[in-house]
Amino acid sequence: MNLTIIVPTYNEAPNVAELVRRVAEAVDTTDTEILFVDDSTDATPDVIREVAASAPLPVRMIHRDDPSGGLGGAVVEGMRAAASDVCVVMDGDLQHPPEEIPMMEHRFRRGDVDLVVASRYVGSGDAGGLADKWRVLVSRGSTALTKAMFPIRLRNVSDPMTGFFLVDRTAIDLDGLKPRGFKILLEILARKPLRVAEVPFAFADRHAGESKASFTQGVHFLLQLTMLRFGKMSLFAFIGALGAVANLAIMWALTHMGVEYIWAAIIASEVTIVGNFLAQERFVFQDMREDASGVWSRFAKSFAFNNCEAVIRIPIMAAMVQGWHISSVIAAAITLMLAFVVRFLFHSLVVYAP
Ligand code: GDD
Ligand code: MN
Repeated sequence: MNLTIIVPTYNEAPNVAELVRRVAEAVDTTDTEILFVDDSTDATPDVIREVAASAPLPVRMIHRDDPSGGLGGAVVEGMRAAASDVCVVMDGDLQHPPEEIPMMEHRFRRGDVDLVVASRYVGSGDAGGLADKWRVLVSRGSTALTKAMFPIRLRNVSDPMTGFFLVDRTAIDLDGLKPRGFKILLEILARKPLRVAEVPFAFADRHAGESKASFTQGVHFLLQLTMLRFGKMSLFAFIGALGAVANLAIMWALTHMGVEYIWAAIIASEVTIVGNFLAQERFVFQDMREDASGVWSRFAKSFAFNNCEAVIRIPIMAAMVQGWHISSVIAAAITLMLAFVVRFLFHSLVVYAP
């Protein structure tokens, strides 16, 4: 097999037959396979089996019961299972025209690149299929933000958010990828320097069905950017900072409702401790949960640590003010920063210890 075309699908039943037909017309059917990686909850898997039975090229499917990592996770799983090292990744709704595949492959076979990006923003490329002005704005804005955060790695890439590309899987470290949500190409580009070429393509309208892009996908994207750029600790800090703001807001609300301030502070702290734990579980340590102890044990450790921390920090602060003659605000800032580092270490090394 010379080429594997990986197609992630989530409820794309009305698009499968047309996609396979157009791919088969466009490529050399003797040495190309199509590999669907499907997380659907509708009849898509049945349709894929039916189409595969009479297709003029090999069509395989992996149906995942645990759709971890979403679209990106599906693509990585497809790359692992591909019969060929050379993989094309494309959407299952025909927004990525299969007729462009030979051009991408042709560019790759020149032998000087690891990755060929099909771009909407180069040469004759066109983003026409973005549904409305709002999506165009979001796409443009997030592309600019991403390029600004990775100025060197993405210097030669005009469309890091595209879902249409060809990659030589031997050039990337599949185990090092941490796919979350839609932007798997960004993950690949940011993790390791690669030799990249671009070819233009026109982003078409969806053949049938509805887009799965959502607000949640946008949040995943921002978290992915933060992680790629600054690592786990920054995400931990970001969520911790949100928690601190929530803490103050709850305290403010409770005191306005007439709750005495000591009680308001205690309630607000406990609520944020629990809220922070849930957010860190979901967004920061999600890849470490599986190998760690059970959720109640993790919660008990985290909860105990945060409560001890609050109790210990105050006498330490007092000692600093007395001993070093510094202002209480500076003492508070120092202890908060120390507490943050210790908290991060405790969570990575103890709470989520394998
Ligand atoms: N396996 C799997 N699991 N596939 C998924 C999932 C999932 O959780 N979510 C979406 N897909 C599949 C869809 O079925 C489709 O084939 C493809 O991923 C893209 O999803 P769309 O719902 O069509 O998203 P889009 O058109 O808004 O997003 C496209 O454009 C973006 C750039 O504007 C995609 O190409 C993105 O990759 C691209 O970044
Ligand atoms: Mn689409």
